[in-house]
Amino acid sequence: MSLRPYIVGNWKMNGTRAMLSEARAIDRAAQRHMKVEVAVAPPFTLIHAVHREAEQIGVGAQDCHPAADGAFTGDVSASMVADAGAKFVILGHSERREGHGETNELVRTKVQSALAAGLKVILCCGEPEERRDAGAHEKFVLNQLRLSLPESVDGAGEKLTVAYEPIWAIGTGRTPTLDDIAAMHAAIRGFLIERFGDAQGSVIRILYGGSVKPDNARDILGVAEVGGALVGGASLTADSFMNIALAAGDGEDA
Ligand code: PGA
Repeated sequence: MSLRPYIVGNWKMNGTRAMLSEARAIDRAAQRHMKVEVAVAPPFTLIHAVHREAEQIGVGAQDCHPAADGAFTGDVSASMVADAGAKFVILGHSERREGHGETNELVRTKVQSALAAGLKVILCCGEPEERRDAGAHEKFVLNQLRLSLPESVDGAGEKLTVAYEPIWAIGTGRTPTLDDIAAMHAAIRGFLIERFGDAQGSVIRILYGGSVKPDNARDILGVAEVGGALVGGASLTADSFMNIALAAGDGEDA
């Protein structure tokens, strides 16, 4: 089981084939920084092409449908993204929860179908600003996890990653304090151990996401229980993304 820091780029709805040169550059740089596990989640249309370019980095999807196949116009199943070369899928991102009305229950069925298709899962959670202002952020996030994760997952430590992304920090340039990140990650760790047992729950990686940039990455990645980062905007160029990965690997080459 890899306990290297895990740095994942979420390209969101960005990228045409012109972006493949960035993927190649990320892959080449990742080969020089083996202390860090690097992955990207391009849009569906680029998964196969990025997979073909990637010798070192992991490639994943940003969503999948809960059903294995069928009459779901415009949707894409877990086995389809696996067939295209994805090894993992990001599920429950707040932009899906908010923009597509995804409930915790729907996210849980997606997690189950992704695992059944052999994909690993990065499950996102995070509170809206008003929940933090009300001091209800931990309760909110733990409830999301309680309802979005299956009761039991064989090999949970290897197959699951949790990404804590406060909604108000995504794409805004604002981040929680390091103490706030530490407190939330500790609460999530406690929940994961309670749900999956000590052996598995203590090794599930917990990523932080929300305005991670090259200049704040070292501090954030140094927080206890932060096992990596889920990076949106700053993952769109190899230069800024790999500077974040470099911060995760202590700036040293392998
Ligand atoms: P951001 O996005 O890095 O652009 O804030 C993070 C995410 O939504 O995963």
